[in-house]
Amino acid sequence: MARIVDGSKKDDLDFEGSIRPASLDEYIGQTDIKENLEVFIKACKMRDEVLDHVLLYGPPGLGKTTLAHIIAHEMGTNIKTASGPSIEKSGDLAAILSQLEPGDVLFIDEIHRIPRYIEEILYPAMEDFVLDIVISNGDGSSRNLRIDLPPFTLVGATTRAGDISAPLRDRFGITSKLSYYTEEELYQIIKRTSKVLNMPINENAALELARRSRKTPRIANRLFKRVRDFALVFESSEIDEDITKTSLRRLKVDEDGLDQIDIQYLDALITKFNGGPVGAQTVATSIGEEVTTIEDVVEPYLLQEGFVKRTPRGRVATEKAYNHLNIEYDPNSSNK
Ligand SMILES: Nc1ncnc2c1ncn2[C@@H]1O[C@H](COP(=O)(O)OP(=O)(O)OP(=O)(O)O)[C@@H](O)[C@H]1O
Ligand SMILES: [Mg+2]
Repeated sequence: MARIVDGSKKDDLDFEGSIRPASLDEYIGQTDIKENLEVFIKACKMRDEVLDHVLLYGPPGLGKTTLAHIIAHEMGTNIKTASGPSIEKSGDLAAILSQLEPGDVLFIDEIHRIPRYIEEILYPAMEDFVLDIVISNGDGSSRNLRIDLPPFTLVGATTRAGDISAPLRDRFGITSKLSYYTEEELYQIIKRTSKVLNMPINENAALELARRSRKTPRIANRLFKRVRDFALVFESSEIDEDITKTSLRRLKVDEDGLDQIDIQYLDALITKFNGGPVGAQTVATSIGEEVTTIEDVVEPYLLQEGFVKRTPRGRVATEKAYNHLNIEYDPNSSNK
């Protein structure tokens, strides 16, 4: 199902590219990460070295890809990009590494999806800037060949830090966990998008959008884009509160920014499984969604906002979830 508050990327990469901040100064929020990166970048420029490898992790749409590009920009270098699922053979990774130029940033998105035996190629590449390859001699024997690589910075991004193997994780000198944004930060992001797209939005409308963006810049921008369409059709030169509320109602994004899938998920948890505990796979199946969508996109926000709890026996709906759905909560029910 198409989902307006879906944190994942899908098809609006062009739109995202056009409003992506290009420098650390323009990057809103994530203050600790930004301040640290600023220092590390300055220091390695002074030493004329490459930046240590950086691992960025956190839920979809919080700005990992954006930050990878900003790192390259701030270092004054080029960025080459690859993604975990597209690296299927060791040769794929060897080809990417051997094309690096001195100082390049190599951005590997979804790095947790590189198969373990291929990942091992990264270890010497990250540690010693060498590429070890095995060449078969054609007679059944083989020999090892070691190729020097130029110094480079690997920036890895993942929504699932837990799926990264310890040896790979240990080779990143800088590890940054992106957190959800505050409403104030989202407000600033919306104001910035409004300026970039040259479509004015008034204060209350911007605040309303910020409140309903699931604390996620990608969703704030996506909602902005939709609301802008409504403003255009309503022949309004500015996005106001009325237009915002009407559009969000039509888009079925509720007061807390929850959309139909969130509501379906909570409703299934409560009405079909008596509030849990129940496994994510079971709930996912019951509403016809992929379990990865549920785990990576739907649940992180519901957990963060306290609608759902994770227990050793499965997911449990909280009192907040019952209240949100106007269903009576019974704290003594046998499952709680
Ligand atoms: N700190 C920020 N300030 C302003 N805009 C931001 C910020 N972070 C993200 N954005 C906007 O949100 C959009 C999504 O960000 P991005 O693609 O970097 O997320 P991501 O973490 O890489 O997501 P995914 O896990 O799905 O790859 C971008 O188009 C960017 O414009
Ligand atoms: Mg990304």
